[in-house]
Amino acid sequence: MKIAILGYGTIGSGVFEIFEQNAAGIRKKAGEDIDVKYVLDLRDFPGEPVEKKLVHDFRIIADDAEVSCVVETMGGVEPAYSFVKELLLRGKSVCTSNKELVAKHGAELLEIARQKKENFFFEASVGGAIPVIRPINESFSADEIVEICGIVNGTTNYILTKMCDDGEDFATALAEAQEKGYAERNPSADVEGHDACRKIAILASLACGSHVNYEKIYTEGITKLTTVDLGYARKLGKSIKLIAQMRKENESVFATVSPMLVGTGSPLFAVNGVYNGILVKGRFSGQIMFYGSGAGKLPTAAAVSADVVECARNQGKNEPVFWSGKELQLTDRMEEVNDFFVRVNAADADKIREVFDKITEVAPAEGEFAFTVKNISERDFIEKLKSIKIINRIRILNV
Ligand code: HSE
Repeated sequence: MKIAILGYGTIGSGVFEIFEQNAAGIRKKAGEDIDVKYVLDLRDFPGEPVEKKLVHDFRIIADDAEVSCVVETMGGVEPAYSFVKELLLRGKSVCTSNKELVAKHGAELLEIARQKKENFFFEASVGGAIPVIRPINESFSADEIVEICGIVNGTTNYILTKMCDDGEDFATALAEAQEKGYAERNPSADVEGHDACRKIAILASLACGSHVNYEKIYTEGITKLTTVDLGYARKLGKSIKLIAQMRKENESVFATVSPMLVGTGSPLFAVNGVYNGILVKGRFSGQIMFYGSGAGKLPTAAAVSADVVECARNQGKNEPVFWSGKELQLTDRMEEVNDFFVRVNAADADKIREVFDKITEVAPAEGEFAFTVKNISERDFIEKLKSIKIINRIRILNV
């Protein structure tokens, strides 16, 4: 099978390396040789092994009937979307790590792949090396997924771990994550929670079988967290993680991304550094945990490369993926019930005691009053605190 790679960045070069280094192993698993015929990139890489495969014109790949599977590792929506759509329409399978593309156009691209009896695979778009897309699509096929709760961004988890365990400041930890190849080109996608938002939209769409629009998912990043917040977390015997969640409750479906206090009793507590952890709860299966390297060149490239092998095994046969284009209506997040940890000025302590029936006070930092409150809707929480200045508030995870 001849393949092409679109984009020789961190992940694309990792895929190239894996096909170079593990050709024999891949041949055994795929049942045939898989040759990288082209690599598309704007740049030249003189003297590197990729040099001979480099092309600068997408048309060479699109027009080559011998190329039956294409890896898309360019990132971003355009031109990736136009390229991938054309390739599928022309009867080539596509494997991608591009969560922006999948979150926005996944349903449409899957439908084209189905009609063309090709495949559109995107295991690496969530959780790096962790197999989570295929298990959700296949292993839970007789179950109903009622909850997904996870740490799905390696960069923010790396930053929070460094801030919490090593007392590093935000900027130093971010620079380290960027150096290690974990962060997006624009790190605000990581630290503002947008990357995690797209990933939970993908998982929720697969879990529910209909399109979850990432633009409708309430998203908070980690930029407002300070070392004081992490100090409180340590005092409470918890850590702070950026949690992406989808929760079904009766007829309601909630999806959110926000930093949360995670206790030692949660399997997510021990998910540190660039590792991701995703808890999936099935109505019948109960809770299942997926854990592994969530970002980085070779772990992510390994997942893309395995998708290519899957394409080789399924030539001319579409593997069904349940994600229709019909948009799922998320429930108004104001109705979501959460537990909160709250910091206010010490002067507001009496007002807090007045407006809340039951709170648990937490030993405060100087000049502050801190407390936790349980089982309160987002609406009631905002209403009760509308006339009090909040220094920060962090939701508490109960999973
Ligand atoms: N920037 C992403 C992360 C890369 O840190 O998780 C993997 O999707």
